[in-house]
Amino acid sequence: MSIATARAHPNIALVKYWGKRDEDLILPAAGSLSLTLDVFPTTTTVRLQDSADPPAQDVFTLNGAPADEKATARVSHLLDIVRDLAGTTARAHVDSISEIPVAAGLASSAAGFAALAVAAAGAYGLDLDTAALSRLARRGSGSASRSLIGGLAVWNAGQDDATSYAESVDGPDLAMVLLSLDRGQKPVSSREAMRRTAATSPYYDGWVSSTAATLEQALAACRDGDVARLGELTEISALRMHAAILACEPPIRYLTPASWAVFADIEQLRSEGVPVYGTADAGPNVVALTTPEHAELVSQRLEHHGAATISGAGPAATTVPTLAADATPAAAPTPPTAGGEA
Ligand code: PMV
Repeated sequence: MSIATARAHPNIALVKYWGKRDEDLILPAAGSLSLTLDVFPTTTTVRLQDSADPPAQDVFTLNGAPADEKATARVSHLLDIVRDLAGTTARAHVDSISEIPVAAGLASSAAGFAALAVAAAGAYGLDLDTAALSRLARRGSGSASRSLIGGLAVWNAGQDDATSYAESVDGPDLAMVLLSLDRGQKPVSSREAMRRTAATSPYYDGWVSSTAATLEQALAACRDGDVARLGELTEISALRMHAAILACEPPIRYLTPASWAVFADIEQLRSEGVPVYGTADAGPNVVALTTPEHAELVSQRLEHHGAATISGAGPAATTVPTLAADATPAAAPTPPTAGGEA
């Protein structure tokens, strides 16, 4: 097959991944646990170029516009791995549509690289199982390894490339309320911030060693269907990650006063008996973890902070039919302009 389309959803970590023990292979310093969402998918079509046809370089469009050089290089890097596996040098056209609203402030790389891994494997004719696809997505962005899996996913740190992939985990029914807060800091990429945390934060070793224990406890809470314990561990993991990041030199502050105000309201809701727990990634936006029954109430109580989106557990990444418009070769590429992340 020389064309394939795949769709994947973002995920939010309950036990965070923060730090690599191998930058090239993207092997994490510790395992992590996440929930794949049922909102904001990315749909990506990979179409192999006719080898006789210039240009002999990958072309990447994001939401209909040529992506910038950095994003295209990241896509090409993943395609190089696929080409190695497939034993070909054929370049590709990659067209990606991300349904994440810019204002949502949610990283698009997890869904983006999960969709790319599945579509590229299909287009290059590789027959990879879920673990192999998760390992492939991991090479684009660590957290993408988990978007291969529907619902709760554990990304085992593993010992090497072959053993570091995400798997499905049984657990209680969960929902998330994503709050988009618009008082963001100047962003430091997760890649750079992870590096700086490992190199300069005196709390990095403590973060890594405590995360292994947090993950074990969180997996036990999943087995027990214990939402309260899983939620407590989720909030602890996020705050410990941010504590390690805050202690960098120079420091990085992702959370803003607006973020802390949401954490305070979440605590207030808990004191009223609502099972709700906060988490936040590498930015100011806060995500509330709760149960499907409480999601509406949590959303109503938090939406004065910013636009709220309710999500349940979403599906695994999967191939989908290619739309006729994506199957036809595009015109010659235009010079890159600013674009978003893959
Ligand atoms: O996959 P990356 O390199 O974008 O890192 C993601 C890191 C966090 O979102 C902050 C935590 C996580 O586990 O998803």
